[in-house]
Amino acid sequence: DWTSEQFVDATVAELKQQLGNDKVVLGLSGGVDSSVAAMLIHHAIGKNLYCIFVDNGLLRKDEFANVLDSYKHMGLNVKGVDAKSKFYDALAGLTDPEAKRKAIGRVFIEVFDEEAHKIEDVKWLAQGTIYPDVIESLSVKGPSATIKSHHNVGGLPDFMKLKVVEPLKTLFKDEVRLVGKTLHIDDAILGRHPFPGPGLAIRILGDITPEKVQILQQVDHIFISNLKKSGLYDEVWQAGAILTPVQSVGVMGDERTYENVVALRAVTSIDGMTADWSRLPYEFLADVSNEIINKVKGVNRVVYDISSKPPATIEWE
Ligand code: XMP
Repeated sequence: DWTSEQFVDATVAELKQQLGNDKVVLGLSGGVDSSVAAMLIHHAIGKNLYCIFVDNGLLRKDEFANVLDSYKHMGLNVKGVDAKSKFYDALAGLTDPEAKRKAIGRVFIEVFDEEAHKIEDVKWLAQGTIYPDVIESLSVKGPSATIKSHHNVGGLPDFMKLKVVEPLKTLFKDEVRLVGKTLHIDDAILGRHPFPGPGLAIRILGDITPEKVQILQQVDHIFISNLKKSGLYDEVWQAGAILTPVQSVGVMGDERTYENVVALRAVTSIDGMTADWSRLPYEFLADVSNEIINKVKGVNRVVYDISSKPPATIEWE
């Protein structure tokens, strides 16, 4: 029978064999898979693992600083790269969802390639690919897959010439979490909802500006922290907020307002392929809505998405 302890022991031993004194580069995303892959390799080769964590300016509020901190506490050799303005520049004026995804993927590769170059004599690229990604090899999940989906593009970045190591390739998600537990990774990282590689960019309908990102970060933060406070976070598979380009009329004191509508989305799911909207308690939704409208400037209306997948997708873009 499979146990996570045995898996860790065997995999660390194999990685030691395979990697020897070679240097390895890995892109951390803040998600479960890349974090667990990093810790496994860290156990095998320590400081020869060079992790890169890119701030694309599309993460949740304070996420970059918080996650970077946890990584450092875990002992990882990790470099945080602030590339916010590169991403914002590339996104400026783009409204088409696929164009936004492509721009983000392209900039990620540029930034990652530039950073990988700074590691002298690096031999390997590590990825947090898990078994479902292998099967569904065309899926675009996380930085690792963003890289994969660009395999066919001419003029490969230099890091693509590296040998690839994927220690989680045989595991399902729940097994990855067990391995993470065995490696004492923070529950805050292991229990985290899935978050798309393009981040908040696909939850801001239309073009992206730093101001819109800030508004959505505040809304999302209120929603997510209330889910955690009321013990509902672990009952939903994924949750987040969407900033719509729709403006509606409201009143604030005796002033007429004309501001944006945000939507809240929370779903239950097994694997993200199908999903149902979460039946969150009305009282909870009422509190979250009030807090958002009272605190976030630029938002005067909150709606709750009651669409299941299919036919709706989890993300709005
Ligand atoms: P949809 O919206 O297709 O989402 O129902 C299913 C799951 O995939 C995530 N998702 C993405 N993840 N890059 C990613 O890394 C993407 O472009 C992307 N689009 C959707 C989504 O958050 C959900 O968990």
